[in-house]
Amino acid sequence: MALNSRKVAMVGCGFVGSASAFALMQSKLFSEMVLIDADQNRAEGEALDISHGMAFASPMKIYAGTYDDVSDAAIIVITAGANQKPEETRLDLIQKNAKIMRSIIGEIKKRDFEGILLIVSNPVDILTYIALKESGYPANRVIGSGTVLDTGRFRYELGEHLGVDSRSVHAYIIGEHGDSELAAWSDARVGGLKISDFCELRGHFNHEDSMTRIFDHVKNSAYEIISKKHATYYGIAMAVVRICSAIVRDEKSIMPVSSLMTGEYGLYDVVLSIPAVVDANGIETVVPIELSETELLALKKSADILKDILKDNV
Ligand code: LAC
Repeated sequence: MALNSRKVAMVGCGFVGSASAFALMQSKLFSEMVLIDADQNRAEGEALDISHGMAFASPMKIYAGTYDDVSDAAIIVITAGANQKPEETRLDLIQKNAKIMRSIIGEIKKRDFEGILLIVSNPVDILTYIALKESGYPANRVIGSGTVLDTGRFRYELGEHLGVDSRSVHAYIIGEHGDSELAAWSDARVGGLKISDFCELRGHFNHEDSMTRIFDHVKNSAYEIISKKHATYYGIAMAVVRICSAIVRDEKSIMPVSSLMTGEYGLYDVVLSIPAVVDANGIETVVPIELSETELLALKKSADILKDILKDNV
């Protein structure tokens, strides 16, 4: 992480990038934000629009810039690329977005950036792997937003189902941020109780039906939202703020970001989401939570799907 830097660079000012910039401005995590986009006008327009709210928020320098402005940033958030169209999977975006990611990393490498790369563009696990390989940075400094948003959706749905604050639900979605993701039900806790025990406390006894319904809703959330409003951006923007907070404040918070597997669950040379300790240096430690046999098989299947894509595209 660039020492003592409270500057963030946002590469990509589309739906996700502009929503993330707006959310980051509200978070007061940074004193400076540079917006970079292939469409300079778009970056300038977003910088102006967000800046005009400054009098209602707190002082911050926000401007449209270029890659020459990234060297002293603590974090570069990369959201650039095409987003899913209705019925399109995240993996369908790989051809187009891999090329864009390589070009972006090529530009960043020309500058002596020492901070953290936070990849958000989809398919995020594949693009995080590409960013890691193309940048040559140590693995701890190249993070993907992964299933942080999916886990937020999961906790929200469980909170609604159980009538509790979603912040009191500790449950993870892991694996690919996409169709092969899985719910780590065996680790799920609410207020320290096993999820099934808390369900019964609330009078729910059809566990299998509820688990299937809730997980399917979480996994397919993006498709549902895209069918209604053509894109998702607020939820992911808030996930970006959550991850940036853990980095900038050196929180050592545990969250399921995308990171390079180095033997966890027997997985190597693939990027996917497992809970990890996130701090000022990025990934401090991956936390291989205990999984049931079924969950382990599903995680390995998710890893195989990602590895097959990598074989054909990297
Ligand atoms: C979603 C996008 C960020 O899940 O992949 O909304």
